[in-house]
Amino acid sequence: MKKAEKSFTVNGRGHLAIGGVDTLELAGQFGTPLYVFDEEAIRRTCRRYREALGRSYGEGGLALYASKAFSCKEIYRIVGSEGLGADVVSAGELYTALEAGFVAAKIYYHGNNKTDDELLFAMEKGVGAIVVDNLPELRRLAKLRQRMDRDQDVLLRIKPGIDAHTHNYIRTGQIDSKFGFALETGEALEAVRETLGTEGVRLRGLHCHIGSQIFDTQPFVDAARVMARFMGEIRRSCGATLTTLNLGGGFGVQYIEGDDPVPFEETLAEVAVALRETCKEEGIPQPFVLVEPGRSIVNSACATLYTVGARKEIPGVRTYVSVDGGMTDNPRYALYQAQYEAVVANRAGEERNEHVTLAGKCCESGDLLGEDMPLQHCDSGDILAVLCTGAYNFSMASGYNRIRRPAVVMVKDGLARLVVRRETLEDIVRCDI
Ligand SMILES: Cc1ncc(COP(=O)(O)O)c(C=O)c1O
Repeated sequence: MKKAEKSFTVNGRGHLAIGGVDTLELAGQFGTPLYVFDEEAIRRTCRRYREALGRSYGEGGLALYASKAFSCKEIYRIVGSEGLGADVVSAGELYTALEAGFVAAKIYYHGNNKTDDELLFAMEKGVGAIVVDNLPELRRLAKLRQRMDRDQDVLLRIKPGIDAHTHNYIRTGQIDSKFGFALETGEALEAVRETLGTEGVRLRGLHCHIGSQIFDTQPFVDAARVMARFMGEIRRSCGATLTTLNLGGGFGVQYIEGDDPVPFEETLAEVAVALRETCKEEGIPQPFVLVEPGRSIVNSACATLYTVGARKEIPGVRTYVSVDGGMTDNPRYALYQAQYEAVVANRAGEERNEHVTLAGKCCESGDLLGEDMPLQHCDSGDILAVLCTGAYNFSMASGYNRIRRPAVVMVKDGLARLVVRRETLEDIVRCDI
């Protein structure tokens, strides 16, 4: 088990515990598959972000929880109570946040293809800012805004042209990306000009997000410099002083033993120095800085519990261990061979003495949670945990094969509470006519 993961321990019975709670008891009480989150670990990370930003910017910085990583009412309550804002990317995420009582003014609305309904909904609810992705969207927004009695704050999403050395699907800051306005082509400056000339829309600042699961500091520093230089250029060529700079999320986390991300505190501190220097060089005031961490807030605080079913040993080939979930609750191996660590929860104290392919229960050969995974011996009925599944698992879960989505449990102070109930068969046909 990873030493860094304080959420996961082995208790006196040799069982895996999360936040001090025995996972076998959780599996018995709530069933499997089951996402189990350690609430205190989430809160600790939120505080680390607040403290790190406070050290660099005083009151001039704020972390927005990128709720695409894991969205349900309870997580908005938790991060909101820790003083964070939120980034949402659909009416569904916005609705969930508002239903949880999240302050609308601390919500930033993203997306590369927002519908009119979504734009109107966001404006009606009074989100802090809409992050405009493209000019047709800006023009629609300006038209829809006429139905409101106030101006709308916006940020523009910029592609800073930074290669963030991460997986292709989760790299977003380079020119060949569906998100935002490119700097190199002059498109971004044109967008700034048009926004400044658009009635009813207030250009508060810029946004960029260079990718996800980034282990190094340098791409963040480079992006901050590029964005601050662009703010300087805007001031010189358009006479506008922008007050907000959102540098996105993407801070890497550890999934498996070999993963070695730079702690986000170090990255944030270096970014702050670079930003201060560049603002000075450009002769612009230090903007209010936003960051949007998602994965790094929730991922390491969660494990998914499964019940082991069929075991198939194919001599000279491999051993398949099938569990009662799979790509429907965690599609990340199927999507981009994301690596995870697994542990047999009822033998957590024992050596991992075999290598197996962990398979799900979908009618799909690619429905795997990992291949060649070191694991304690396990058989039908054992409880298996896949660790560090807090981000982009529940939120990416699907209903393929009409498999019911698992429940979500939070543990805190030794107690577990259900925060999302398991889907029922009735839920499965709820929208069917
Ligand atoms: C615009 C934006 N902000 C923030 C994030 C969160 O990234 P992460 O979960 O890697 O911190 C993403 C993720 O793709 C994103 O697209």
